[in-house]
Amino acid sequence: MAEKLRESWRIGSVQVPTRIVLAPMAGVSVQAFRRQGRRFGAGLVCSEMVSCAGIEHRNERTLGYLRVASDEHPLAIQIFGSDPGSMAEAARTVEAAGADIVDMNFGCPVRKVTKTGAGAHLMADADLACRITEEVAAAVSVPVTVKMRRGVENGSRACLELGPRLVAAGAAALTLHPRSASQMYTGHADHSLTAELVEAVDVPVIASGDITSREKAVAVLDSTGAAAVMVARAAQGNPWALREIVGGQAVTPSREEVAAELMVFVRETVRELGEQRAVGFLKKFYGWYLGHGRFPKPFKQELVQLRTTDEVVMRLFAAAPGAAELVERLEAELPAAADEVLLDQLPISVYGGG
Ligand SMILES: Cc1cc2nc3c(=O)[nH]c(=O)nc-3n(C[C@H](O)[C@H](O)[C@H](O)COP(=O)(O)O)c2cc1C
Repeated sequence: MAEKLRESWRIGSVQVPTRIVLAPMAGVSVQAFRRQGRRFGAGLVCSEMVSCAGIEHRNERTLGYLRVASDEHPLAIQIFGSDPGSMAEAARTVEAAGADIVDMNFGCPVRKVTKTGAGAHLMADADLACRITEEVAAAVSVPVTVKMRRGVENGSRACLELGPRLVAAGAAALTLHPRSASQMYTGHADHSLTAELVEAVDVPVIASGDITSREKAVAVLDSTGAAAVMVARAAQGNPWALREIVGGQAVTPSREEVAAELMVFVRETVRELGEQRAVGFLKKFYGWYLGHGRFPKPFKQELVQLRTTDEVVMRLFAAAPGAAELVERLEAELPAAADEVLLDQLPISVYGGG
């Protein structure tokens, strides 16, 4: 079963080279995160959830989430919303932006989203969920997939009834995070439901929730029959977790390697979001990267207080001078910005000013 993690598989017509999927995470899954995830062994990466209303209104920040780089593929872009027509239109835009897969969020438990009828609310409105899936699948030629929770209330088994209906409506794969929306992130992901879902549908199922190590990944694939596992929190500031899961060896990165990956991540994120947004956005990543006993705690505090990302990069170079060579190599491997597929309609400012 362990070898299975390196096997390729398919979602509709899309070939996915490994059984590890890097999860969609709002406020985390920027392009730099996804590219790094692919480099470290994720077979498929996913954007954070993108509002279909934002796409419809050509909201500048929303359109920025649709930038696709040539080294990300295969890539799923995830959309959320509750109106079938708007979701179908958003899916067309996502396909035009270069996504290989349109994923739909039927699992977000956050009230701001569910009160609009989107996210996990759709677990309790199966008819609407199916109408959305049908219209979106009819609107695009790339595969359409759905990410669900087990249901809204604790103990719910709604995913087992909804899953087969979504497949009949056109879903080419399903991801299940088997916690209820009420649970948020407490308790455990109950993957016995994932096993039941695998039995109930004839499309690939991706198991999400508490995949933190290779051992856990193998155990979940083994006990559920899922096609792949999805890794979310364990990969935050820790791409080495992906390498360990896919490659089999526990990897303790050197300080130089950690500093180099973080520096490239910082620079790429500035390019994507612009300096002003990147300064705040990146703060959480410092703790994630530098934790795990890799650097002393006060160092993180120091980075968080710096006012520009140039200062952060300089501090990292000072702390790990040997990282320079690796940074150079990593940056040389990045595709030129001109390789990126960009929507013609994207305003210039989306490019982060340069
Ligand atoms: C910060 C954060 C943001 C998330 N954002 C999304 C999202 O945009 N779309 C989505 O489908 N799931 C989202 N999730 C859920 C994850 O994709 C995943 O299903 C969940 O965290 C369980 O996996 P884990 O135990 O590996 O973290 C998010 C989770 C976290 C921690």
